[in-house]
Amino acid sequence: MLLKTPIFNKKRMASLKKYQSLFNSGLKSLNHREEPRGLYAPVEYLLKLGGKRLRPVLVLMATEAFGKKPKEGLPAALCVEVFHNFTLMHDDIMDDAPLRRGQATVHEKWDVNTGILSGDAMLIQAYQFLENYPVDLQVKLTQLLSKTAIEVCEGQQYDIDFESQKTVTIDAYLQMIKLKTAVLVGCSLKMGAWIGGASDEDAQLIYDFGVLLGIAFQVQDDYLDAFGDPETFGKQVGGDIIENKKTILFHKTMEKGTPEQKADLLDWFENTSSKEVYKKIEAVKALFVGTGAAKQSREFVEFYTHKAFKKLDQVELKSETRAVFKAFGQNLMERKF
Ligand code: IPE
Ligand code: IPE
Ligand code: MG
Ligand code: MG
Ligand code: MG
Repeated sequence: MLLKTPIFNKKRMASLKKYQSLFNSGLKSLNHREEPRGLYAPVEYLLKLGGKRLRPVLVLMATEAFGKKPKEGLPAALCVEVFHNFTLMHDDIMDDAPLRRGQATVHEKWDVNTGILSGDAMLIQAYQFLENYPVDLQVKLTQLLSKTAIEVCEGQQYDIDFESQKTVTIDAYLQMIKLKTAVLVGCSLKMGAWIGGASDEDAQLIYDFGVLLGIAFQVQDDYLDAFGDPETFGKQVGGDIIENKKTILFHKTMEKGTPEQKADLLDWFENTSSKEVYKKIEAVKALFVGTGAAKQSREFVEFYTHKAFKKLDQVELKSETRAVFKAFGQNLMERKF
């Protein structure tokens, strides 16, 4: 599905960069608490490793889109990015992941207890950023963050539950990724919208746009987990296969594969021998390609991104602002990490 008009131009790309550098300068000027180092050094380590900063950029974009200066959205942008990094710290423990953003994960560099407690501190710090807003707005933002945070926990639990289930329906998978990933993307936009002064109707529409974009984003993440370039991906390629994650690639293989291919996939998912890890990754990836699941997963990302764009068309926005949101979404779809 090709777009009729090109979505990228220099001005739009510059505009996306502007939000990113505003966020990065806000992060730099933070006064981190210093002691105890055992608690705060891992927090600084993970935040400094960078990442795409997509959630804070969405907060700032939405703040400006609905009429306020982007810097008014900065505390909420810090809130969602610190919250996101908290979820990554704990997620890496749960997924037994060795690498994050091209470096050792916190529980590998320090230990699991450090990952748990430094993560907890980040969750609390995330709420503290919201104390910068007038109390009425703070209450709204806090309630939204709490709703989102509990949904993320639910999604993470389903993700773990599904590892040991032989099959999972595609609807259950979609619900799981909506909870673990997409709602935070929606939350970032809704926070920005409220700070910017949007109507409740527009705040909800832009939230819905974010959830659809977040679903596309997680499907792309699933794809890259198997097919990303180890040089640039920043995480362990094949990690989801090792953990028997029921990703989009699993679902598409079960939908499109011959009975033999499906049986093969299920057999490999029964195989937990640490000696055969590389063989398993290669064999499962060959099934993902051979059944057409890899290609179909990419199409799925496009489909959901365009579904998100349709939702965005319902939001009252200047046409150039809408175009910048679309450039952002298109960028995500084409990313390699
Ligand atoms: C990783 O999020 C976790 C998922 C929801 C897939 P990102 O891919 O946004 O991670 P960073 O922040 O850019 O490293
Ligand atoms: C993580 O999903 C979602 C959250 C952190 C809540 P993944 O487990 O797929 O994220 P990555 O691939 O480790 O970044
Ligand atoms: Mg993970
Ligand atoms: Mg995970
Ligand atoms: Mg992943």
